[in-house]
Amino acid sequence: MKPIIIAIDGFSSSGKSTMAKALARTIGYRYIDSGAMYRAVTLHAMRNGMIAPDGHIDEDAITASLPEISIDFRPDATGQRTILDGEDVERQIRSKEVSSLVSQVAAIAAVRRDLVRRQQQFGKERGIVMDGRDIGTTVFPDAELKIFVNAAAETRARRRYEELIAKGEKADYEEVLENVRSRDHIDMTRTESPLRRADDAIDIDNSDMTPQQQNEWLLDKFRHATATTD
Ligand code: DC
Repeated sequence: MKPIIIAIDGFSSSGKSTMAKALARTIGYRYIDSGAMYRAVTLHAMRNGMIAPDGHIDEDAITASLPEISIDFRPDATGQRTILDGEDVERQIRSKEVSSLVSQVAAIAAVRRDLVRRQQQFGKERGIVMDGRDIGTTVFPDAELKIFVNAAAETRARRRYEELIAKGEKADYEEVLENVRSRDHIDMTRTESPLRRADDAIDIDNSDMTPQQQNEWLLDKFRHATATTD
């Protein structure tokens, strides 16, 4: 069977990574979390003084740093680990600081152009599941299977809040909900490839679905897509 590209887009904390990872494991495809790449660039900028304590972002410095940054992934039992310039930064890129700044870094046109090109390289051999915001529209408009994941903002904030608490971080539900809403707004209104459902994407709202139901739903869509692809 010819390997295909599976693009899974959707809002933040919609559970798309969990679905994407589970599918990749089941079908033996490579999984790439494109959001981790935007997070890695944000972490690099924070560490190198390109984001001031008052939150000012030095877009020119970030743009100039892109050719020097290496971003890779190493598979592990739970999916993948993000490697920035040879260092495993999987934990650091999930911090609250990175989470609150990443949308602004992801809105920089030069950053998007650079990372989209890298994402396309990862998909050259096909046989890949990639999740993000613009995978089905910009990165792989020719993906054989495109999914658009949604869930109510409150459901997504609750999931994110529980994740933070489980990691031992301090969290306030209202603050997390505010962060989810503000990220939705930035992601949908930026000029460079905003979060948008591809016309040929299949929708799923998983607010009331268990992870197992989601995984079965997605596997079914995959089987259908490969049965109709020659
Ligand atoms: O999925 P995530 O929360 O890890 O994504 C982090 C940020 O990166 C989020 O603000 C949206 C942005 N992003 C993007 O603009 N395009 C992508 N393909 C993936 C993520």
